[in-house]
Amino acid sequence: RAGAVIEEVEQRFSTPTALLRGIADAMVEEMERGLRADPHAPLKMLISYVDNLPTGDEQGLFYALDLGGTNFRVIRVQLGGREKRVVTQQYEEVAIPPHLMVGTSMELFDFIAAELESFVKTEGEDFHLPEGRQRELGFTFSFPVHQTSISSGTLIKWTKGFCINGTVGEDVVAELSRAMERQGLDMKVTALVNDTVGTLAGGRYVDNDVAAAVILGTGTNAAYVEDANAIPKWTGILPRSGNMVINMEWGNFKSERLPRSEYDSALDFESLNPGEQIYEKMISGMYLGEIVRRILLKLAHDASLFGDVVPPKLEQRFILRTPDMSAMHHDTSHDLKHLGAKLKDILGVADTSLEARYITLHVCDIVAERGARLAAAGIYGILKKLGRDKVPSDGSKQRTVVALDGGLYEHYKKFRTCLEATLADLLGDEAASSVVVKLANDGSGIGAALLAASHSQYASVE
Ligand code: BG6
Ligand code: GLC
Repeated sequence: RAGAVIEEVEQRFSTPTALLRGIADAMVEEMERGLRADPHAPLKMLISYVDNLPTGDEQGLFYALDLGGTNFRVIRVQLGGREKRVVTQQYEEVAIPPHLMVGTSMELFDFIAAELESFVKTEGEDFHLPEGRQRELGFTFSFPVHQTSISSGTLIKWTKGFCINGTVGEDVVAELSRAMERQGLDMKVTALVNDTVGTLAGGRYVDNDVAAAVILGTGTNAAYVEDANAIPKWTGILPRSGNMVINMEWGNFKSERLPRSEYDSALDFESLNPGEQIYEKMISGMYLGEIVRRILLKLAHDASLFGDVVPPKLEQRFILRTPDMSAMHHDTSHDLKHLGAKLKDILGVADTSLEARYITLHVCDIVAERGARLAAAGIYGILKKLGRDKVPSDGSKQRTVVALDGGLYEHYKKFRTCLEATLADLLGDEAASSVVVKLANDGSGIGAALLAASHSQYASVE
């Protein structure tokens, strides 16, 4: 009976190339709707107020705060200008305590400000600012924010594992600034950026051809450089660069074409944000392991995959994390002993049959492959929107780089390989040769510091 369940899962989760092309087209349509501010558009296509990406001239000592993935980071960057580029980059990383993700706004911001304060307190003589100059900070806040300027914006909604009352609709920079004041910390946020925008800025600093950035981590999202004339909802002055970075918030993409299954619907229904972030829930690190768990649970119930008794732990939501799924998926031993050990560790099932292990491996494969292929379709959609999905008709070569970051892309090798192969397949040989997907590890921290520098309150007097 396991065969019948698996067969059905294979069917529901399948993503033939033609379907992916349709999904990419739907993504382009939704991008356009979002840029028009259609109130029903699932993609918010948020204006970032970043109309100039780093040039390499940025100079001085800047800080960055990075909140929104699994970890929280405080970063100090000494920018050396055109000659020396980044000189030093030091950071401190802490896992975000889970109770803070569902606590109060004040607790969360006080925690961030306290970490920042202790980081600043320990800095030595080498990190001095000129007399009378305030420390400046880029704040990477990886949630959908309605920006009101480069350094202010209100939270639209929480995503991923966060659910805190009272922050939605508030200016997150004001919240952070008040928390810093409570800590007696004199610092000014000069740039508020999404992690995708930070990654794009950090990526551009090292490679001029970076046109888009994608995060595949706990959540998933993308940002890209749009022609300011192609943003009907932009009513401000046309930027001198002619460009504007758009934070797509693509995690909220939905389309009838997405191959959703009963497992996805149940996961969504029981989530902190039902009906939202549908694409993210099929792709990102927070959810892949959970989808696998739900399929295994079905197999345990209907086909006694783990014996006569359904392992009670398998009923527990989110017990199977994506890093564990990845470890199982990469087991190359002939008897899948590492996978078996993981199942024992996580679910407490002592003796799994070889068949059960192979089935588990196959389920990991199906779920990871669907996620990776859907993410590739999204990237292909952006390239289409930018007109970079084909070689120009005059035969000229135009290199396009997509900067990628996030734990899922960085650590889940099979996911990454599948994504890259799928994107190459969608592009075809000729176009694929001019598109580069590049890991921009921790680029968003440097990116936020660079944007803090280019929007420094002292920039105009230098
Ligand atoms: C980091 C970036 O490398 O990846 C962050 O610096 C980003 O800005 C994060 O939010 C996402 O990864 P994860 O896996 O922690 O969600
Ligand atoms: C979620 C957030 C988004 C962020 C992404 C990756 O989708 O809503 O802002 O960029 O996760 O961290």
